Amino acid sequence: MKHTILLGAQWGDEGKGKVVDKLSESVEWVIRFQGGNNAGHSLWVNGKKTVLHLIPSGILHPHTMCLIGEGVVLDATVFEIEIQKLIESGVFKQAKDRIRVAERTHLILPLHRALDQYRELEAKGTKGHIGTTGRGIGPAYETKALRRGIRALDLFDEITLNGKLEHLHSAYLTLLGKEQMAELKAETLKQIPTWKKLLEPLLVDSTSLLKKIDAEGKSMLFEGAQGVMLDLDHGTYPYVTSSFTTSAYAGIGAGFPKILKTAKVVGVAKAYVTRVGSGPFATEMLGKHVEGELETGETIRKIGQEFGATTGRPRRIGWQDLVALKYAVDVAGIDALGIMKGDVLAGMKEWKVCVGYRKPNGSLYETFPARAEELEAVVPVYETIPGWNKATPDDPHYEQYLLMIEKYCGVPVHYVGFGPEREALVTRGMK
Ligand code: IMP
Repeated sequence: MKHTILLGAQWGDEGKGKVVDKLSESVEWVIRFQGGNNAGHSLWVNGKKTVLHLIPSGILHPHTMCLIGEGVVLDATVFEIEIQKLIESGVFKQAKDRIRVAERTHLILPLHRALDQYRELEAKGTKGHIGTTGRGIGPAYETKALRRGIRALDLFDEITLNGKLEHLHSAYLTLLGKEQMAELKAETLKQIPTWKKLLEPLLVDSTSLLKKIDAEGKSMLFEGAQGVMLDLDHGTYPYVTSSFTTSAYAGIGAGFPKILKTAKVVGVAKAYVTRVGSGPFATEMLGKHVEGELETGETIRKIGQEFGATTGRPRRIGWQDLVALKYAVDVAGIDALGIMKGDVLAGMKEWKVCVGYRKPNGSLYETFPARAEELEAVVPVYETIPGWNKATPDDPHYEQYLLMIEKYCGVPVHYVGFGPEREALVTRGMK
């Protein structure tokens, strides 16, 4: 199998960076195709923690090239900071040696960040509050769909750039007011020379680049951000991100759909479930369905360091949810799973796995509920399994858990993560 598409199979933060890091040992290109710097991949290499928000995690291998596809929304200021940090830590000498950016990529501007914050503040305390990362992701996709966005290549056409900026900012004049709008536009204009200098040597036509790479027989890894359950179409709408997180979008977000015919799709999930931000979460440990689960959740948060890599927010914690995981496998076309962080649960006497959702009237759901309101009201059906001492396949109880996941979801578990270090990952039963 030459190409791989790697996705989060839950609500993000599944530990994808670690699997990307492993797979990057043997791939030539790592490509991001959606999302932006709302993502946060924490990687532990040689005892040192590196957090990447925008640049693909594959960058930590000296031989890999990285591409940011046009399905991504790019905050050039954050991009610059991240590049600078990588240069300082000796990962590479110059960004242009190892990173490319699709010229059609939409930029996140100060306007987008301001809109994100404005909307979240306005919705605080209501059902409309999404709990976004506040990075301007949703508004950047919004202005893209509105056909007023600024793309990376627009920076290099000075004759039309001003008009495009005016057209974009004027759309939100009534909402944010003249004064703030003038400030936001001025802030953008001030940044443009820096962004141009940074991006000029990196911009490419992604389709022709990927076509060439494919023809040369090189392998590609498409690195998904967030998770299937946050997908704009198929996630727990409206409590989702604003991009498409299933495998199909890997073909779109970098302009090379041919890879969908041959790529293997790997979905990464945790041994438990976490979620940040608002939205339904059937197996959340809130003390609603299982006695003492609030305390269990707190312990898991502490041991698993479950705080957002981007915002530092405490993540919500839950029992494993195979109903949601199976749905993610089906809707995202996942061929194999990676199960991470079972080590966090090691030593527990028993563990609960949700294998069905009941309606308030007692009957079972046959499909994954599409309405957030329904999802909020489901009663999870749990099976209790024995705990394990070691989260590796040679521990019989953990292996039993992995077999249960495989049987329920109908796909094999190929990767097992059992600790934060790069080495704490084994492949399991791969052909
Ligand atoms: P946005 O992507 O910043 O618009 O946030 C929308 C929703 O997606 C919020 O619930 C965020 O917490 C969630 N989200 C966005 N990015 C990530 C991520 O990388 N990990 C986990 N949750 C995320």
